Amino acid sequence: MIELRDIYYTRLGTRDLEGAEKFTTQILGLQVVGKTNDRLYLRGDNKHHSLCYFLGDPTDHTVAFELRDWTAVNSALEQLEKAGVLCGRGTDAEAQDRHVESFIWFLDPTGNRIELVSRPHDAARRYFPSRDAGVTGFGHVGLCSTDPVRDQAFWLNHFNALVSDWIGPCPLLRVNTRHHQMALFATDHKGIQHINYQVAEVDDVMRSYYFLKENNVKIVFGPGRHATSGGIFLYFEGHDGMIYEYSNSDRKIIESPDDHRPRQFPMHPSSFCVWGAKPDIAEFKD
Ligand SMILES: [Fe+2]
Repeated sequence: MIELRDIYYTRLGTRDLEGAEKFTTQILGLQVVGKTNDRLYLRGDNKHHSLCYFLGDPTDHTVAFELRDWTAVNSALEQLEKAGVLCGRGTDAEAQDRHVESFIWFLDPTGNRIELVSRPHDAARRYFPSRDAGVTGFGHVGLCSTDPVRDQAFWLNHFNALVSDWIGPCPLLRVNTRHHQMALFATDHKGIQHINYQVAEVDDVMRSYYFLKENNVKIVFGPGRHATSGGIFLYFEGHDGMIYEYSNSDRKIIESPDDHRPRQFPMHPSSFCVWGAKPDIAEFKD
């Protein structure tokens, strides 16, 4: 069993780093912490970074988790190799690029690249956002899955992942007491389906709703409230068409993990929004 502490960062390819910087700083409200000819690092809390855009294919996405035990890198790799999972160890140069001491990578059954990091770097200075969006940190991703039942079994078999709730066949998975760090959504391709940043309060969600409208950012779902986590949310289209979400769903803590009963919600818009907002997101439609 590979023990994960939390979701850590995403890495996204782009052909347009300048556009990525404009969106993430002027709209999303993250802080640039590093920039080279082919890299843009951003943070939304006191980790070194939670988002890295690199010059490359815009469909090239990576999600990283931090290992609970920083000494468990070798045993995690052994376990994945033994299970026949395509995996490998990151080089020193690659670890440096990620601002972690070491990491391994693997492909999930859909083909998503996942990295498991040990001793990721913290920021020495406090988070100072480019826009007061109320961001408190990276929350979770929606991950594309060509078979959510198969991929759920993969995450439950090899990792400390637990199902918090389902919407249709799609599980919302957690590796700690927060409601979810990853949700698997049925698609016919790999990749990140959406990236969530947590905000401090409902007022932040609504302030951003009006801010995004004023700035002609396409809102694709919300404002609304999730039936699952109870979070108040807003989804909008970002750089290269990536869907970003603000929500304050962190307040939903699974108090007694052993007693938590995962609930099954139907694949219906009301499961995504109890207020009645209709998603303009293909994977959220029944
Ligand atoms: Fe979400």
